[in-house]
This record gives sequence, structure tokens and C-alpha cells, in this order.
Amino acid sequence: MSSSGARFADRVALVTGGSGGIGLAVVRRLASEGARVVAVGLHQEGADAAAEAARAAGAPDAWGAACDVADEAASEAAVAGTLSRFGRLDVVVNNAGMMLFKPLAEYTGAEWARVLGVDLMGAVHFTRLLFLHGRPGAAIVNVSSVHAAMTTPLVAPYAAAKAAMLSLTRSAAIEGRERGIRANALLPGAVDTPMLWENPNIKSGAEKIDPADVGKPEDVAAAAAFLASDEARFVTGAALAVDGGRLARL
Ligand SMILES: NC(=O)c1ccc[n+]([C@@H]2O[C@H](COP(=O)([O-])OP(=O)(O)OC[C@H]3O[C@@H](n4cnc5c(N)ncnc54)[C@H](O)[C@@H]3O)[C@@H](O)[C@H]2O)c1
Repeated sequence: MSSSGARFADRVALVTGGSGGIGLAVVRRLASEGARVVAVGLHQEGADAAAEAARAAGAPDAWGAACDVADEAASEAAVAGTLSRFGRLDVVVNNAGMMLFKPLAEYTGAEWARVLGVDLMGAVHFTRLLFLHGRPGAAIVNVSSVHAAMTTPLVAPYAAAKAAMLSLTRSAAIEGRERGIRANALLPGAVDTPMLWENPNIKSGAEKIDPADVGKPEDVAAAAAFLASDEARFVTGAALAVDGGRLARL
């Protein structure tokens, strides 16, 4: 991958939910293009393994930070650790996410708060922190979902959080302009990760997935790397579907 050049040489990139699935693919991709990488994971072991994977992929340095992104103080500590170790923060990929599956009438307020806390507020915290500590040229990539645009039963909090993430992306893009900070969103479709195959709607057949509609984590990582790079210097406030054309079909 380094044949595409070191687009992230001297850059420091933080990826939330970096220990598996799409997040780990983003960690590897940015590392292979020269970034120093901070892999944020729920647990230290997974974060450390992702940092090791980043080094193996070519990162000059990498660090694994354990952090529940819904926890504002823990998010601040992860960024403080990044700054003390690497001295700067240039790219944030807000990828950590979770789903619950329940009929709308059965969700409790606490369950709504947990999903919104991880999927939306996690991105809010790291957006704020990049606004506080990022320099011109910094970039945010929010990993939303096709569920921001169209959805299925049982995932109301997830769909709401992913839609709100697009609104957050627009706000960050317009307020980031004067700081030289860009913000864009990705809407992955079905991607071959544990999150896809553990989805009860898919297990039960209520949501049918054509194998041709299933992408790889690396497909999303390639788009994230573009949006995070200076090649996308004139792209901000955008929402890019990476779904093999699923949203375009009736
Ligand atoms: N797989 C898909 O089909 C698909 C489709 C659209 C969008 N997405 C989105 O892509 C992102 C990555 O998902 P994935 O498919 O790789 O699934 P995944 O379950 O493999 O990855 C999610 C990651 O987020 C981490 N995470 C969960 N809660 C966290 C928390 N509170 N704090 C920190 N980390 C936390 C998990 O540990 C995991 O590493 C998610 O935001 C998901 O909504 C996935």
C-alpha cells in the first residue's frame, strides 16, 4: 500500500474502535501510509494488539489507548496521552459503534442513552478534542452507516445516532473551515465484520443481504484514508456511501 506514497508522513491519526473490523483496517491503512497511529479500543489488550498491527503495517510509532468513547473524561485522557506521546493530533476517525436490537416500544431511555452515547457522543467528544488541539490540515472522518438514510426494524437508536452523525459532520465542516479542519462522513453498507454477521435481522433472514452487496473493511478504509488525506483538501461536509450501490437501488 505504501506504493500510493506516504500521505500521512508526520501525521498522527487516532482511530476509535480500532481493535477490529473496519477500525483495524483503517489503522492498518493509515499506518501503511506513514501515520503514527493511536488505536482506541474498549479494552487495553485489543488496543495494544491494534497498535502492534499498525507497527507491522509500517507506522513509525503507534499507541493503544483503552477508552469507552461514550465517557468524555476517558476520551480526553486518550487525547492527552496522544499529545504527550506524539505532540500533535491531525486525523480522527470516529469509527467506534454498537447496535442494539429491539422493537421501538421496548427500548428504555437508558438503552437509547447508551447507543447515542457511543455512536453519537463518542464522535462529538473526539470532534471537540480535535477542534481544541488540531492544527490547519486536520481532518475528521465519521463512520456513519447507510442506516443514516434508510433503515430496518429494531435498530431505532442506531439509525438515529448515525443520522445525527451526518448533521454533526455538517456542523463540524462549517465551523471547522476557519480552523482549516475538514469533516466528512462515510456511509458503509454491509461490510464483512462481526457486526454484520451478529446482526439478528440478518441471522433471522428479516434483512436479506446479497453476497454481492457485502464489502470488505479495506474498502471502507480506502475511502477513509482519502477523506483524511490532503488529496481531499477541497472535500468537507460530504457524506460518501461505500455500499456497492445498495442505497442507489429501489
Ligand atoms: N459492518 C457493517 O456492515 C457496517 C455497516 C455500516 C456501518 N458500520 C459502522 O462501522 C463502524 C465499525 O463497525 P464494524 O463493522 O467494524 O464492527 P465491529 O463490531 O467489528 O467494530 C466496532 C468497534 O467499536 C468498538 N466499540 C464499541 N463500543 C465502544 C465504546 N463504547 N468505546 C470504544 N470502542 C467501542 C468495538 O470494540 C469494535 O472494535 C461502526 O461505527 C459501525 O456502526 C458497520
